[in-house]
Amino acid sequence: MVVELLSVDDHTSSDVKMAATRLVAEVLINRVPSSACTLFPKILLPSSCSAYHHIHLKHNRCVLHQTYQVQSRSVHFSVPSLQNKLETGHDAEIEILGKQYPRDDFTTVTPKILSRVGVSLQNQNHHPICLIKERIRDFFFILAFLNRRGNPLFSIYDHLSPIVTTAQNFDSVLVPQDHITRKKGDNYYINRDMMLRAHTSAHQHDLVQCGLDCFLVAGDVYRRDEIDSSHYPVFHQMEGVRLYTKHELFEKCKGGSHLELFEANSARTDLKQETHTLEAVKLVEHDLKDTLIRCTQHLFGKDIETQWVETTFPFTHPSWELEIKFHGEWLETLGCGIMEQQLLQSAGAGDKIGYAFGLGLDRLAMLLFDIPDIRLFWSTDERFISQFQVKDPTSVKFKPFSSYPPVYQDIAFWLPTDYESNNFYDFVRTMAGDLVENVQLIDDFTHPKTNRKSHCYRITYRSMDKVLTLEEINQIQDRIREQVEGELSVQVR
Ligand code: PHE
Repeated sequence: MVVELLSVDDHTSSDVKMAATRLVAEVLINRVPSSACTLFPKILLPSSCSAYHHIHLKHNRCVLHQTYQVQSRSVHFSVPSLQNKLETGHDAEIEILGKQYPRDDFTTVTPKILSRVGVSLQNQNHHPICLIKERIRDFFFILAFLNRRGNPLFSIYDHLSPIVTTAQNFDSVLVPQDHITRKKGDNYYINRDMMLRAHTSAHQHDLVQCGLDCFLVAGDVYRRDEIDSSHYPVFHQMEGVRLYTKHELFEKCKGGSHLELFEANSARTDLKQETHTLEAVKLVEHDLKDTLIRCTQHLFGKDIETQWVETTFPFTHPSWELEIKFHGEWLETLGCGIMEQQLLQSAGAGDKIGYAFGLGLDRLAMLLFDIPDIRLFWSTDERFISQFQVKDPTSVKFKPFSSYPPVYQDIAFWLPTDYESNNFYDFVRTMAGDLVENVQLIDDFTHPKTNRKSHCYRITYRSMDKVLTLEEINQIQDRIREQVEGELSVQVR
């Protein structure tokens, strides 16, 4: 049946109209007292309801005028959820990746931010965030820690859901109840119990509890922040954890068989936790710092300048940040430290000692590939993505795309039997150099009688520094037409 719209005022957003649609159904089906209402242009209700409704939307609020008898209760919505929506103008539940979560007074997620959940740039082939993840992963897999049989020691987890409990994000890594990092204003809470992870450390405890003692976690993390060229509310981290048994840690020390990881009756100092021996901590610290410096050199070359800065985290002690010098400025790239023994204890690995680190992937990718603006990572512009779709992306330097207008030219030709598109792409680049932004196959045709194949390509020309004239482009295009036949044995149509 259809509910007719009575009125909608100018302040009514489309979101509210959508909510109103469903609200009408809820009101009817639940036979809610007619104290509240809705409005909406033509609302379709399940055919099982035989009710008719008058609705009215005012100032982004729904006001119910009349309810009629409903015959079916095949759909159930709770009255509290209806009240919530009437009060807030929102659905009482939030859907994320196909699951429903109740909203409450802690909810801070927005539709915009939720549209980023599940995109997982870290797993998109050739995306710079994925490329940097792979470079770091390869360092840990190949260059660093092969075990005696030649297998990597580390395993990587890059498909863990960013939807975590607040207990995983905070409690499991010992963040105190009143810690500033829990602030509603800084986090994307789904409700009081669930949130979008604010760091990949949210998975440390669970993975240690699973029995892992060498692992990497790569994922998208969410923090409320302003948006500018270096801040975006979604970014990416790579977490690393390595645990050592007493034997693993001391096996390389001459005469180390009497050394211990733990000691009783000792105090916490700037250098170590109360339960640890200083010699154990110093060996782990050395391994941690050496590994991260080598990883940084793997990314940026041997000459990169680095410095360690002491800091604090609730889940490590002692803790450090690594800064690298880039274009004359010191930039923080990671946080790390010796894992709090209480965390390992509660995850069932109290007999081991370990380090953890968290690297910011976006910043590293920006530095490595010369990407000037963090927002570009979310760009679906071909001109961004295509720059990284090359065989060896190691030395790609991003070329900002020009705001000058493009000029398009098409060319079509009959193909010889041994034809390869890549040859044409290379040929065009040779002929027109950097003026070519893109070459795209727009038509692939086989003649029905002769069986001859033909391709049509669209060449996009664009200059970084001036408006191209059609004349200039025609000259280049003519040369391409003239020479392509001889070069690639094709026949221009
Ligand atoms: N989770 C920390 C952050 O997001 C980084 C970190 C990870 C620090 C692991 C220490 C150990 O800032």
